[in-house]
Amino acid sequence: MKFISSKAAFAMVMLPALVATILMTQSCGKSGDVDSLYRDPSQPVEARVNNLLSQMTLEEKIGQLNQLSMPYGEGAFENLCDAVSRGEVGSLLNVPTAALSDSLQRVAIDSSRLGIPLLLARDVIHGYKTVFPIPLGQAATFDTALVKLSARIAATEASSDGIRWTFAPMIDIARDPRWGRIAEGCGEDVYLTSVMAKAMVDGFQGDDLTSPSSIAACAKHFAGYGASEAGRDYNSTYITERQLRNVYLPPFEEACKAGCLTYMSSFNDNDGVPSSGNKHLLTDILRGDWGFDGFVVSDWASVNEMVSHGFCSDPKDAAMKGLTAGLDMEMVSGTYIRYLKELVEEGKVSIDDIDRSVANILRVKFKLGLFENPYTGTPQSVKYDKAHLAAARQSAAEGTVMLKNDNATLPLSTDIKRILVTGPMADAPHDQLGTWAFDGEKDSTVTVLDALRDIYGDKVQIIYEPGLGYSRDKNTAGIAKAVNAARNADAVIAVVGEEAILSGEAHSLADINLLGAQGELIEALSRTGKPLVTVFIAGRPLTIAKQVEESDAVLYSFHPGTMGGPAIADLLFGVVSPSGKLPVTFPKSVGQIPVYYSEKNTGRPASGHETLLNDIPAEAGQTSLGCTSYYLDAGFGPLFPFGYGLSYGDFSYSDLAIDKSSYGVDDTIKATVTLSNNGKREATEVAQLYVRDMVGSVTRTVKELKGFKRVTLAPGESTQVTFELPVSELAFYGLDMERKVEPGDFTLWIGGDSDCTLSTDFEVTQ
Ligand code: NOJ
Repeated sequence: MKFISSKAAFAMVMLPALVATILMTQSCGKSGDVDSLYRDPSQPVEARVNNLLSQMTLEEKIGQLNQLSMPYGEGAFENLCDAVSRGEVGSLLNVPTAALSDSLQRVAIDSSRLGIPLLLARDVIHGYKTVFPIPLGQAATFDTALVKLSARIAATEASSDGIRWTFAPMIDIARDPRWGRIAEGCGEDVYLTSVMAKAMVDGFQGDDLTSPSSIAACAKHFAGYGASEAGRDYNSTYITERQLRNVYLPPFEEACKAGCLTYMSSFNDNDGVPSSGNKHLLTDILRGDWGFDGFVVSDWASVNEMVSHGFCSDPKDAAMKGLTAGLDMEMVSGTYIRYLKELVEEGKVSIDDIDRSVANILRVKFKLGLFENPYTGTPQSVKYDKAHLAAARQSAAEGTVMLKNDNATLPLSTDIKRILVTGPMADAPHDQLGTWAFDGEKDSTVTVLDALRDIYGDKVQIIYEPGLGYSRDKNTAGIAKAVNAARNADAVIAVVGEEAILSGEAHSLADINLLGAQGELIEALSRTGKPLVTVFIAGRPLTIAKQVEESDAVLYSFHPGTMGGPAIADLLFGVVSPSGKLPVTFPKSVGQIPVYYSEKNTGRPASGHETLLNDIPAEAGQTSLGCTSYYLDAGFGPLFPFGYGLSYGDFSYSDLAIDKSSYGVDDTIKATVTLSNNGKREATEVAQLYVRDMVGSVTRTVKELKGFKRVTLAPGESTQVTFELPVSELAFYGLDMERKVEPGDFTLWIGGDSDCTLSTDFEVTQ
């Protein structure tokens, strides 16, 4: 039986009944003299917005700017209903059930003067009931169509409980795996994150915003949050304006182009200015440069937190700075509802500023069709639909990356007699769901152990010895049992990694080695000499050089969600060939961080022949050891580069050609390459196109991803892969801070990861 908390039970049973009573006792607030043009869906949205706005009192306007979280406790619900009926609430988050969503909506519609619907929100980050891989895992699929489908499914399931707004996609570029929130985004790359941003916005919002299963997307965290100093959550960032525009903002601009209805301001202060009070970001760039006409919500209490930042003297000052910067809706900290009226009366906030923000919010409500269809319109039966589970399985399989496969250890054959399954993540249904899986249920989650037993249990003897209880477990008592079992097995599958709670918001780590005694478990298993397949299930890249060395084959799955088990089983036995590619560089050690492929060359780039620690003689005199940029103890390169991932095929690239050697700024480059599968199995490869702008008005990065394609080839098959790259995509913010293509020489590569070497040159002329 599933556990239902007393809070949830109360919400399901008692509260809707309470609402009915409240509605019966409250007189309907709508007065007869309301001009109801705004209710007419045949009117243009702007006419409806203006008509409604012109009839609102200042209090009602400020109410629209106020977002509350579902309250609990004695009298809290009655108070909430009163506030909603007085028009003091524009949005609610975390309303737990469809019945309650509809009840609260009824209070807003029937009991408030103007009947403005609530916008009901929740963090539906990587699935609702059917949980997909964490976004980092979805990014590893390099499959935008599948990512879009996953967001569509999440929206459909969430909307069945009345949710019409999700706080996703999270599109913070993250280059520091210590930062727990690296799990929630698409990794380190500007292009990959940008195309995934569009896919997710398209998926959440659907083809028709007014459909009951369409939910508003929210591009977050705007902006630069992923650059938190030292990977410590909420920490300050120091991103220059150029880096902001070239690296951190493009995914947000892409979301805007895709029609993303809302943005969320980030917690961090960049160069001293907290995002929730950053007019340059929220107004000049978002509205001025990009023409955004939706609304911006603060992150949780981040308006009030501008006081802690030392940017505002008190909550009233914070309300003023937030609103005037362009922050439309305040999440939970209540400074707007408390102080905006006073601030208007004192002339510190203009009514125009208030009207502008209210209009932004109403516009979104009209666009979502909430005035016409405020109540839940998606049936409950969509949850865990078969097609949803199949898509989750595909996503988990495509998002798992094979990092090593010596001696073709994988795929396993069903002729094998006995397999030992071990490790604390082999049967950890709660933990494989990952961070932000509030609505996922462990009872509906299939683990690696479940799947192996279920699919292969009648063909292969599956022995299970967990070795350790959970990922931080330091008690080594179980390791000997696992090792004994390994001695009697023909192959060992060790599933290790991180529990869900170790990544995500406020869960940063200073040490990203395997935790607990997991390292000892792998080492001991490796010493048995049995074929060792290590499967990592984690929320971030971990520093795993030693375990990779000790294993014969390695799969890496960023918390893979509800269907992670069957997906990994499919890969282990070769039902599916691995095709995932790393969306983020894997460091050799934590001291290399930040390490990412799209870096600058420096004046002294590493040559690959650097002297390392152990090659320096004792009592060496001071030398500059070749004068290049590297670490004595870790060298230069990472453990695995961005874009890396193996398959059961054997892919090679040849005959790279471009259609011209010289292009104008309005041209499109056509690049082709021959991709061959020289292996014995059908497999999918992600062909990746990179570019380098050799000389710029400011230094440029050594490689930038500009395109990718998933290509499936039969054994022995070759095909021509063609990329079309508009030269305009080479534009960047140079010395004059204008976004443009700078004519000159470029190099273009196509290959299977960011270390690819097959290249050709071209020039761009004026
Ligand atoms: C804080 C988080 O930073 C944000 O991502 C989330 O959407 C909000 N809380 C709401 O839960």
